[in-house]
Amino acid sequence: MCGIVGYVGSKPAQSVLVNGLARLEYRGYDSAGIAIMGDDGIGVTRTAGRIADLVSVINSEQGSYAGSVGIGHTRWATHGAPVTKNAHPHQDCSATVAVVHNGIIENYIQLRDELIAQGHTFTSDTDTEVLAHMVERMGDQPLELVVRNIMEKAEGALAIGVVRASDPELVVAARRGSPLVIGLGEDENFLASDIPAILEHTRRIAIVGDDNVVSLRSSGIAITDLAGNPVEPIVREIEWDLESAERGGYDDFMLKEIFEQPTALRDTLAGRIDEHHRIHLPELDLTAREARAIDKVFVVACGTSYHAGLMAKYAIERWTRLPVEIDIASEFRYRDPVLDDRTMVIGMSQSGETADTLAALEYAQAQGAYVVATTNVVDSSMARVADAVLYTRAGPEIGVASTKTFVCQLVLMQLLGLYLGQIRGALDGATIELMAKSVRALPEQVEQLLEHADDIMAMARKYKDVKDVFFLGRGASFPIALEGALKLKEIAYVRAEGYPAGEMKHGPIALIEKGVLVIGVATSSHLHAKTLSNMEEVKARSATLLMVLTEGDIDGQRMADDIAWVPHAPELIAPVTAVIPLQLFAYAISKARGLDVDKPRNLAKTVTVE
Ligand code: AGP
Repeated sequence: MCGIVGYVGSKPAQSVLVNGLARLEYRGYDSAGIAIMGDDGIGVTRTAGRIADLVSVINSEQGSYAGSVGIGHTRWATHGAPVTKNAHPHQDCSATVAVVHNGIIENYIQLRDELIAQGHTFTSDTDTEVLAHMVERMGDQPLELVVRNIMEKAEGALAIGVVRASDPELVVAARRGSPLVIGLGEDENFLASDIPAILEHTRRIAIVGDDNVVSLRSSGIAITDLAGNPVEPIVREIEWDLESAERGGYDDFMLKEIFEQPTALRDTLAGRIDEHHRIHLPELDLTAREARAIDKVFVVACGTSYHAGLMAKYAIERWTRLPVEIDIASEFRYRDPVLDDRTMVIGMSQSGETADTLAALEYAQAQGAYVVATTNVVDSSMARVADAVLYTRAGPEIGVASTKTFVCQLVLMQLLGLYLGQIRGALDGATIELMAKSVRALPEQVEQLLEHADDIMAMARKYKDVKDVFFLGRGASFPIALEGALKLKEIAYVRAEGYPAGEMKHGPIALIEKGVLVIGVATSSHLHAKTLSNMEEVKARSATLLMVLTEGDIDGQRMADDIAWVPHAPELIAPVTAVIPLQLFAYAISKARGLDVDKPRNLAKTVTVE
């Protein structure tokens, strides 16, 4: 997730762009840059770091350009480390084109190889740079047509802004999937990934549709589809204040991030499942022989990432038949685990900086294990320590309670399990195909589920004064029960316990009485009937029963006091949708209690102490 801005008008573009980028910094903050159309061509200033660092470079004079047309970008790395050479805007060989981009170009390797064969020279590690060379390759053809052509060739979700020295009064933009809006002014027009970037200049916003191309001049805008047919813009008057605009109109970052989950999932899956349902994780750089040599897997993580790690255990064991151990990172290195060069150790972390997990990975590496980091932050400490990195591509997560990064960790672990099963020859093609299709369906399923978010939250508010909650699940639903309990503890300060449903009778059932709420995660699985029996046991002791059930589950429906329905999915895929009602449940209770969901007491987003 990155931020784009663009401007055409009569004001100094530099300050319009920098102010806009500062408003978009929540979309990415590892590097930033701008391109200004000047009398001597395009002036590009960019740097690793935050917008404040970009301002320092601009103020150093070599970085300052006069002009009233330009584009800017604030980056959240997905391809290539967060260093200056990978900062946007990117240019072609002759530096007559500049491009900013948000999203992922799934076929960029193929496009880059093609361009290199045609004599183009690349200077960055990004997927974006192919776009600048593609514009250059098309010579003097009208820029709108060039961008339409690019959009046809580039696969994946993307939003772009392009300038060309031979068109000094023009910015051309396009989008597919990734967000992009146009701000309409008087003799000036604006481009942005998000409304806050331009709200100080205009409240008249034109929404850009998928596969639409927009040309912006100071005199006006024109939108076409990929065939060049004119598209009538949908213009809206924005009434939000700046602060709520930064949260996309949502009350809190956590809620915004819950609703970003379909996009985060799509980005995380991009390029990792092909049209033949084969799984691709080239980042692991494993030959089949090396993959077969692995004889044990450890997963180490903390908090929510640990819950995703538990899911990895189920998926990897089921699909590869490799034994998997899961450890809380702060315990791992002190218990002297048995590791050697045939052990794969997976460190899971949203931030890539959690001290306990980082130390665990360093320990594992010192023992000779093959260390894989799974993180959302490119070039974070764990990414640098690990032998290989699998990135979730959820974009920056600001709410302290992890939501979108958790579901992305889950799908990444599903992909890893399938990939290892595939490369080790442990899985048949039909199973991989079924699972790959089911994983691919998840972004849309989550989107559909979120259409009912208001109903789920209204139901949750009935329980706003609840004091004791048990979250119960079996098999792959157990990590979801743990995660539901953690969410409720951390943002609503309610005593909540996640427990394996079958274990209740060995002690905790003594706590069940009238007034206790039990939340049973009982999506379809081979343990479904057993889970329902466990639910009967708590119900018989007067607990109130809220259940997360697969659509159409009549048996579950009969016993539940309240239900959150989730769509059909195979047992090891279903946790991704099952967690969403629980995120909404915790969110609604926290709000009903008047708490700060984004900054819960005593908690930090990243814990860098042991
Ligand atoms: C999640 O909601 C929590 N804020 C917390 O448990 C978190 O998952 C944990 O601190 C680990 O962080 P990491 O994923 O950045 O390593």
